[in-house]
Amino acid sequence: MAPTQVKKICCIGAGYVGGPTCAVIALKCPNIIVTIVDLNQARIDAWNSPTFDLPIYEPGLEDVIREARGRNLFFTTEVDKAIDEADLIFVSVNTPTKKSGVGKGFAADLNYIELATRQIARIATTSKIVVEKSTVPCRTAESMRTILDANSRPGVHFDILSNPEFLAEGTAIADLFAPDRVLIGSLQTEEGKKASAALSAVYNNWVPTDRILTVGLWSSELSKLAANAMLAQRISSINALSAICEATGANIDEVAYAVGKDSRIGPKFLKASVGFGGSCFQKDILNLVYLSETLHLPEVAAYWKAVVDMNEYQKNRFSSNIVKTLFSTVTNKKIAVLGFAFKKDTGDTRESASITLINNFFQEAANVTVYDPEVKEAQIWQDLTENGGDLAAYKKKITISNSALEACEGAAAIVIATEWDEFRTLDWTAVHSKMSKPAFVFDGRLILDAPALRAIGFSVHQIGSGWPSL
Ligand code: NAD
Ligand code: UGA
Repeated sequence: MAPTQVKKICCIGAGYVGGPTCAVIALKCPNIIVTIVDLNQARIDAWNSPTFDLPIYEPGLEDVIREARGRNLFFTTEVDKAIDEADLIFVSVNTPTKKSGVGKGFAADLNYIELATRQIARIATTSKIVVEKSTVPCRTAESMRTILDANSRPGVHFDILSNPEFLAEGTAIADLFAPDRVLIGSLQTEEGKKASAALSAVYNNWVPTDRILTVGLWSSELSKLAANAMLAQRISSINALSAICEATGANIDEVAYAVGKDSRIGPKFLKASVGFGGSCFQKDILNLVYLSETLHLPEVAAYWKAVVDMNEYQKNRFSSNIVKTLFSTVTNKKIAVLGFAFKKDTGDTRESASITLINNFFQEAANVTVYDPEVKEAQIWQDLTENGGDLAAYKKKITISNSALEACEGAAAIVIATEWDEFRTLDWTAVHSKMSKPAFVFDGRLILDAPALRAIGFSVHQIGSGWPSL
């Protein structure tokens, strides 16, 4: 029988989810030993950094690591040892979109899940609770069960739970400290319910009982995809309306405010933008599209696919409006792109709208300067050239700056691509004095005080509000 009380936890995958999630579990449960493992030695070294130069930037994370690391929280590449010692194992590995084979471009690549599951089966000498923390297609637990049953040692039993993570980057620690809900899915058998209760007890150290939802395995898996799809759908809806605003003179912030006052709709996640980024929204919707298609539900697949299509449209619409406004040519003009992360308060750049914008400007032969307070230079070059771009050619046209002011020097236009707070409070008069004239600002995040900037002399264009020159 799998353990009913959890004393030792192993988390496979020390990434954006495994790291913060299990660090917070360690912080809140001092009596549980938590070991986070990864194959990536550099990542583990960074988690163990004596100077707390952690592999991810996340407000509040360092304080958690300072308190728990070395007490009951450990980071290591000794995967097998941690697996064998644990009562409960979180599988928190990456599940990217497949790049080849069946389902290419849509289905989730479950290779990392399968390898981790095989490793658990091969290594475990005692029974364990295995928890899907990664976001996976509905019924993945069934495949895990088959692999575990076929490869485990005699007498070793596994219970499988689904416990998807709902944290958002940039607010991960606050989200983990006070989650809207913790979702635990299990088989509705006696053993499944016992395993679910054991995991509930871990969270109950700081999460109130009424926020811990226990449901069936398949509902839990599907709820994670559904939540991301519905969040992204709100953004695509407001972004679709932003195009109508620009064509009519309506203002998208005012529309969002008015619509969000309806208590059935609510005000959150209605901020128009240059498009959503991040590692999950697009990936999880494409995963849902693929699932729908394999279930022979083409209308359902098309419905969700439109959310991703609208996002692509919004990114390209914004950059092409910028080019049109700059007199339909940006050849050799300097454009300063402020922000490279996919949202503020993170150094994560996965699927960031900035990548599309800069590549579009590059195609138009513009000179681009880029500034982001958290993203490392090497990451920017890697992202820009990931589809086979010639790095030397990029370096001739693109420069990475050390400050916003430096990036804006001599620029014809500034593009706000990430809503970092420091862009709101820039010395805009000083910025204006350093730019070529007329000086344009394109606010893709609706963070700037447009009348104040116009008073300085800028020509300001915000996504979703009158774009008079078009
Ligand atoms: P990530 O790429 O940052 O981290 C995954 C880690 O797993 C990597 O460091 C990788 O080296 C490691 N890994 C892979 N296979 C391994 C193995 N066999 N043994 C040991 N380590 C292994 O990914 P992430 O952003 O943390 O996402 C993980 C999962 O969580 C994904 O399914 C994602 O959809 C989901 N999720 C992510 C977020 C988010 O904000 N990033 C939020 C909720 C859910
Ligand atoms: C999102 C979800 O919010 C989390 O609940 C989920 O756990 C996570 O995905 C995941 O599964 O990975 P995250 O991508 O980290 O979290 O960040 P969000 O705050 O959701 O922002 C995603 C993107 O949407 C960002 O580019 C953000 O700028 C954009 N966004 C968000 C808007 O354009 N408008 C909004 O109103 C809100």
